Amino acid sequence: MTESQHTDGAARIPTDTERAALLSAAHAARQRAYAPYSHFPVGAALLTSGGAIVGGCNVENVSYGLTNCAERTAIFAAHAAGQLGAPHAGPQIVAIAVVAESADPPTPCGACRQVLAEFGPGCTIICANLRGDTLTMGLDELLPHAFGPW
Ligand code: THU
Repeated sequence: MTESQHTDGAARIPTDTERAALLSAAHAARQRAYAPYSHFPVGAALLTSGGAIVGGCNVENVSYGLTNCAERTAIFAAHAAGQLGAPHAGPQIVAIAVVAESADPPTPCGACRQVLAEFGPGCTIICANLRGDTLTMGLDELLPHAFGPW
């Protein structure tokens, strides 16, 4: 597969099977959250255009500002594992699921939205709470006019 095919394949709607796999992986990742300060465990799982599913959880720190969100943990883990390419080159994020116990489905914070824009422009974001309520949006809706010099 060429790099352009990877990129072209990224901006698409995940299938029902992919959605279910992402939500399952995000729930599993949430079990590994380290959230002793907020008591708000979050799980995330992303699907790459290469077909990999990579999970992440929030990892907090006693110096609160050093906390890493579940979404960015998943993105950084995927990149470190060689499953994501550079912006607009190589495998990109097709979709990411985020799971937490909240009244409404939890949407990614602003920092995570900008990091998603780096490796998943046009990706789909599936937000779910533990009751099973879901909210599905495109990154273009969540972060219109993202910064990016590309
Ligand atoms: N958190 C995430 O993991 N993802 C988000 O999109 C928002 C917030 C985490 C950070 C912190 O550990 C806890 O949730 C409370 O803010």
